[in-house]
Amino acid sequence: MLTVAMPKGRIFDEAVELLLAAGYDIPSDLQNSRKLIVDVPNENMRFILAKPMDVTTYVEHGVADIGIAGKDVMLEEERDVYEVLDLHISGCYLAEAGLPGSEWSGVVKKVATKYPKIASSFYREKGEQVEIIKLNGSIELAPLIGLADRIVDIVSTGRTLKENGLVEFEQISPITSRLVVNPVSYRLKDSTIDELVARLTKVIERKENAV
Ligand code: PRP
Repeated sequence: MLTVAMPKGRIFDEAVELLLAAGYDIPSDLQNSRKLIVDVPNENMRFILAKPMDVTTYVEHGVADIGIAGKDVMLEEERDVYEVLDLHISGCYLAEAGLPGSEWSGVVKKVATKYPKIASSFYREKGEQVEIIKLNGSIELAPLIGLADRIVDIVSTGRTLKENGLVEFEQISPITSRLVVNPVSYRLKDSTIDELVARLTKVIERKENAV
């Protein structure tokens, strides 16, 4: 039995599509119920429906053998998991943004983000001292209401920034979703995991060639 931690939300549909294209016979409406554990006996798989930020935690602790996690989550959480495949889905990037022409206000430079570790290391490398304010969502609100001077957040289509009158100052890191594996599971279930990786790789290559 292979236990797979799936990220609920944005990435989910693309991830299911990839697994279906790889020939795994899983219910396509996996996310529609409130169930958090879905067994798929015909594929000998169990799916755990997790918050995206928690996927690598489940995999690190071995309660899921594998998981699908955004590179953003991997960079922020720094969990002890193997990254075995770039799934080339849910492409976006991390960026620093703020109000146009905004200079840092006051002595303390404030940055709001869902990614305190990534933001800290970004500003450390630039030699800028900032105060990080951790938020859990709607990060773009922070500069609008004077909570922070800048934000570090995900940009996908750029619509959220635009519709809130914010501009990007610097791109920090490109992001896609990755297949991550628990190191012990990789030893114990290597053939099952290798087969999954091989089947997914074929689908990804097919998709890339079709573009
Ligand atoms: C993400 C991200 C941005 C937005 C970017 O938030 O934090 O707010 O999407 O997408 P866009 O460039 O296509 O507009 P999400 O919708 O996941 O919700 P959150 O605010 O709760 O983090």
